[in-house]
Amino acid sequence: MIELRSDTATRPTPGMRAAIAAAEVGDEQRGEDPTVRELERRAAELLGQAAAVYVPTATMANQIALRILTQRGDELLAEENSHILIYEQGGPAALSGLVMRALPGRDGRFAPQQVRDAVRDWRSGHMPVTRLVCVENTHNSSGGRAWPLAELKALAETASELDLRLHLDGARLVNAAVAQGVAPAEIGRRFDTVTLCLSKGLGCPVGALVAGSEELMVEARRAKHLFGGAMRQAGIVAAAGLYALDHHVDRIADDHARARRLAEGLAAAGLPVDLAQVETNFVHVDVAPLGLTRSEARRRLDAAGVALSSTVQPTVLRAVTHLDVSDEDVDRAIELIPCALGALVRA
Ligand SMILES: Cc1ncc(COP(=O)(O)O)c(C=O)c1O
Repeated sequence: MIELRSDTATRPTPGMRAAIAAAEVGDEQRGEDPTVRELERRAAELLGQAAAVYVPTATMANQIALRILTQRGDELLAEENSHILIYEQGGPAALSGLVMRALPGRDGRFAPQQVRDAVRDWRSGHMPVTRLVCVENTHNSSGGRAWPLAELKALAETASELDLRLHLDGARLVNAAVAQGVAPAEIGRRFDTVTLCLSKGLGCPVGALVAGSEELMVEARRAKHLFGGAMRQAGIVAAAGLYALDHHVDRIADDHARARRLAEGLAAAGLPVDLAQVETNFVHVDVAPLGLTRSEARRRLDAAGVALSSTVQPTVLRAVTHLDVSDEDVDRAIELIPCALGALVRA
């Protein structure tokens, strides 16, 4: 099976397994695990922040950030299809008592004016306090699209002017940075808090970080314990994170090149692929023009030995490249997918 459902599918490489086996460990909950501490130091530096806290998942990193940046009853603004709004089981409401307000997005992005227009007049005594803006970069639901730096800069200026906090769901921040040829810190430093996932493009079996100021990370460590994320000898998995920061950052460019080649190959075979969407490691294929439903398309692809996954758009499937997808896999997928889906496109 060629596994293109998600970049979470990677298995630790032999080098990463060796790093895991050799990890020095201690009690993480007591702050005594040297490998976790080193990973937190390195991640903070990478993200352009003063400190970072290691947690099991990016969902927990996001929820900790929301918790420490807000008070119960506050309102958060986020793009309508963002992970925080639609894939975290209403966590902001359930865990932090937040009101969630969806901003219409284009390629996962929204404009400073939309934020300006959305801020509520809480002084009237009736409305919630609009406290927090969340950005997702790259944006999962729109197909791994990246925010241009100039737009982020403008958004950060507006947030600061309006006294709003700013969180970056940078689960795939390294993909955005590599695609744009900038250091992740150049993006991350503009936010109050940043989430980074280690188990997607970076190829770790588990782990994420939330980063921010020293003061905020003291709060983050408390929230991590509250949410059940304080661990013991976590250096055993944090070692994979350190290995990934050393060996798996620059190579993400290979995933992007493979996604582009896959997209071009599928488009050349007559499949409805929007090449402009392919900025990082996701390729979207709309099966509606082929006269197929999503479930029929996935059934045919599974039978052919290529796994794609569904998206928020009911007729769009996605193929995601990652560490365990080779050039040969891409060549084979370019043959198998159009065959399975019965390209050419019907007029
Ligand atoms: C943008 C984004 N944020 C957060 C997450 C959550 O990651 P995790 O599965 O580590 O909780 C994901 C996972 O797909 C994601 O795509």
